[in-house]
Amino acid sequence: MDTLFIGQNLIYLNETASTNTYAIDLLNGLRVAEGSIVLTDRQTMGKGQRGNTWLSEPSMNLTFSLILYPVFLNAANCFYLSKCVALALHDALAEILPSGQHDIKIKWPNDILVNNKKIAGVLIENNFRTDTVQYSVAGIGLNVNQEYFGQLDVRINSLKKLCKQHFELREVLNTVCRFAEVWYLKLRKKDFDSLNNAYTSKLYLLNEWSVFKRADGHPFNACIRGVNEHGELVMELENAKTKTFEVKELIFPSRYEA
Ligand code: BTN
Repeated sequence: MDTLFIGQNLIYLNETASTNTYAIDLLNGLRVAEGSIVLTDRQTMGKGQRGNTWLSEPSMNLTFSLILYPVFLNAANCFYLSKCVALALHDALAEILPSGQHDIKIKWPNDILVNNKKIAGVLIENNFRTDTVQYSVAGIGLNVNQEYFGQLDVRINSLKKLCKQHFELREVLNTVCRFAEVWYLKLRKKDFDSLNNAYTSKLYLLNEWSVFKRADGHPFNACIRGVNEHGELVMELENAKTKTFEVKELIFPSRYEA
């Protein structure tokens, strides 16, 4: 692993319910080195955002959790961890994929899309003590060698689907860890500007007027202008007013072609 600390301690499991759950259980008993990774070839109860399940064919994709202790981070600023992880995945994919051929975007809050289709998802579980983040488990699912995704196939991408070639999972993991370290070290130095600028510039549908829906299905025209310090999406509405949204309040337009 070409890193200082991220991924240096690798806990590999043939099978586990969820690497996030395993990491959290581990942290409740002992302190493992910062940057430790729990990696598995098969999750039996992989967790996705908003209570969804994360499905991944055994041994085909990366399913792992990164353990961090961002004790320097105020609880109110914990969205910076999402920014770090999303940027790490973005930059790793930009390095792996042939340059200029694919459109890699961060769909707020931290899905990664290539050519409008989801290639990676992130589930961050934080533990707070008073006002600071005590530990953070960043669970990452990155589609690598799986080619078919059943009913969801038109909406999902993988490196194999894009490049028609097999990728070594450990090499892809190494690349993600390298970029995770770059961005996490910037966060540690409180270089918020770099994180904000990079994250915002890579946002899916940034500055594009599109039809979104509210949680109740009501459609409206709006344009993404950025993300505020709480991690809420800042949108311009047709009446020129600005409104912020939390994840559960908004449904994105679907842009994938069949
Ligand atoms: C999403 O819904 O987009 C988030 C998916 C996160 C999946 C990863 S796979 C490794 C880690 N362990 C889990 O149970 N979930 C995350």
